[in-house]
Amino acid sequence: MKEQARLKGEIRRLLRERNAVMLAHNYQRDEIQEIADITGDSLGLSQEAAKCEAEVIVFCGVHFMAESAAILSPDKTVLLPRLEAGCPMADMITADDLRAYRAAHPGAVVVTYVNSSAEVKALSDICCTSGNAVNVVRSIPDEREIYMVPDRNLAHYVAKMSGRRLTWWDGYCPTHERLTIEATVRARAAHPGAVLVVHPECPPEVVEMADAVLSTSGMCSYCRRSEAKEFLVGTELGILYRLRKENPGKTFFLASRALICPNMKLTTLEDVRDSLVSLSPVVTVPPAIREKALSALEAMLRVPRDVS
Ligand code: 13P
Ligand code: SF4
Repeated sequence: MKEQARLKGEIRRLLRERNAVMLAHNYQRDEIQEIADITGDSLGLSQEAAKCEAEVIVFCGVHFMAESAAILSPDKTVLLPRLEAGCPMADMITADDLRAYRAAHPGAVVVTYVNSSAEVKALSDICCTSGNAVNVVRSIPDEREIYMVPDRNLAHYVAKMSGRRLTWWDGYCPTHERLTIEATVRARAAHPGAVLVVHPECPPEVVEMADAVLSTSGMCSYCRRSEAKEFLVGTELGILYRLRKENPGKTFFLASRALICPNMKLTTLEDVRDSLVSLSPVVTVPPAIREKALSALEAMLRVPRDVS
């Protein structure tokens, strides 16, 4: 504990010296979230980073998130303390896969979840997040064919909510896929009064059972506003830190003990300190890819919040 306090002090000092801002995704280890300047969901963090004055962004999350920060803040140095912290779902589709699809379906609008590489975003028409995917799809003219990548579960949910006929890439998040229907039924039986909130990356039959389907930041606002006292949470373990901190009078249970993303747990305080000392590893996006990926992100940001 004493060692942790010393490291935290060292990190705060380095952040000042380097004119750096520390961002942490809602799934990061508790001690990382505790000292971050901003915690949030994948895209929200990069947008916040683009707005601030810092010269350096230390991104505690996974690779595609640091890439999004680099796309939105080309003049800042973006550090990812553990370069190997990737997202297996983002890696399930490559630029070549998407190029092949586009060649075979030149008329389709490609909607790409932000959990994807910069190269895949660069080949897309528009991006989406777990929070705005339904609105993004609703904003596309009815007669257009729509293809969603890389998450089949998010695509399934969006098809149901938007009433649009979509096709999609068969990718998935290995962590959310572990929240089985059996585990969810067991958790509901153990906490019958609790409100079940899940991430749209969960399997469709689990999403079907949920009281609310939300992005990680959406879950934080929903639980804050709700009058319920008990919640069953169907997303990665790390979110419990923020939910419990922001709602001291409420109780949160993880829907399954299997909901741990190993990549999100890689980054330690030591890694953050080392990264600020050496100003590495740096995540960059080549300009030609950055420009195209940025236009897919900007197309998403132009979609009004309520499209019906
Ligand atoms: P959010 O964008 O909802 O934070 O989700 C990111 C993620 O990796 C979900 O698994
Ligand atoms: Fe990727 Fe799933 Fe981990 Fe999110 S929880 S970073 S989607 S593997």
